[in-house]
Amino acid sequence: MRSAKDFFRPLAVGAPDPLREIPARPSRAIHFFDPSNPKMAAKVPDMVGTVDVLLGNLEDAVKAENKDAARDGLVRIAKETETLGARRGPTQLWTRVNALDSPWGLDDLTTLVTEIGDVLDVIMVPKVEGAEDIHYVDRLLAQLEAKAGLDQPLMVHAILETARGMVNVEEICAASPRMQGISLGPADMAADRRMKTTRVGGGHPGYLVRQDPADGSEESINAQRTTYQQDLWHYTISRMVDACVSNGIYPFYGPFGDIADVVACEDQFRNAYLLGCVGTWSLHPKQIAIANSVFSPSVEDVTHARRVVAAMGDGTGAVMLDGKMEDDASCKQCLVMVQLAEQLAA
Ligand code: GLV
Ligand code: MG
Repeated sequence: MRSAKDFFRPLAVGAPDPLREIPARPSRAIHFFDPSNPKMAAKVPDMVGTVDVLLGNLEDAVKAENKDAARDGLVRIAKETETLGARRGPTQLWTRVNALDSPWGLDDLTTLVTEIGDVLDVIMVPKVEGAEDIHYVDRLLAQLEAKAGLDQPLMVHAILETARGMVNVEEICAASPRMQGISLGPADMAADRRMKTTRVGGGHPGYLVRQDPADGSEESINAQRTTYQQDLWHYTISRMVDACVSNGIYPFYGPFGDIADVVACEDQFRNAYLLGCVGTWSLHPKQIAIANSVFSPSVEDVTHARRVVAAMGDGTGAVMLDGKMEDDASCKQCLVMVQLAEQLAA
């Protein structure tokens, strides 16, 4: 007889696919570096093992005049850092290529697959607006991989950063078995949607709700009433998580631009973690520690989850633990926590 635990759906769902043979690796922090910046590039070898993913960024934040240097720099770093990449060491190597309609996107893909396609794990594609963008990358990668004689396909990660991309998010997730995950790009998304925030991620003090007036009097209506800041990205992240999980791929938060504000950074990361994201971007070394801590379940949460799973036996029925009702569904919630703890410990 099947128990409730049989119906627990781990994140990587769907029929076995040869492309998915690559084991799921923790990717709590995707740390961005600019390969055209000699200071940043020099730090890369020492960062191997300190972060789940190192990402050589070729797109926004790299000046147009440095695009070639960034691409060449990434090739050199990947070749020289012998422990970099999931097949060679503890830290994955990703890249963010330039947009598909930019003057550099095609050269990025061609050069990187040809030169370091056996080291790169994931290619992040910005400004993806529909399945057609992923189909284009998928076919191009297939040609380049065949030409380079690669024996493992490269995975693709899309950035969700336009209104049109949001509308098409389900078809983007389903567009290719190469799809590994999606990140939110809150800066481009805010600009594209004409949102009136100039912040890169995080909340906004103007996006709030205010406590009701005590009574209908003018005095209480005009009084200073308690305000509660709301999560500006709640809808976007939730929709992205649903699209990713229902297609068996991973949802990620993206950048948090106020490097000095570690408190708000942690809040944004935690909101995304609680809503289902598996990781986030890091734009500064101090954001790596925040991401690693936020996207790892706490000892208390895992201990509690293991107690519930043990108390639930085959996972059916209901039990009382510490005055709270636990049943098949809460057992599955706890299995999410236990599975994540086991993946991170592996
Ligand atoms: C990231 O690329 C963003 O636009 O926020
Ligand atoms: Mg962007």
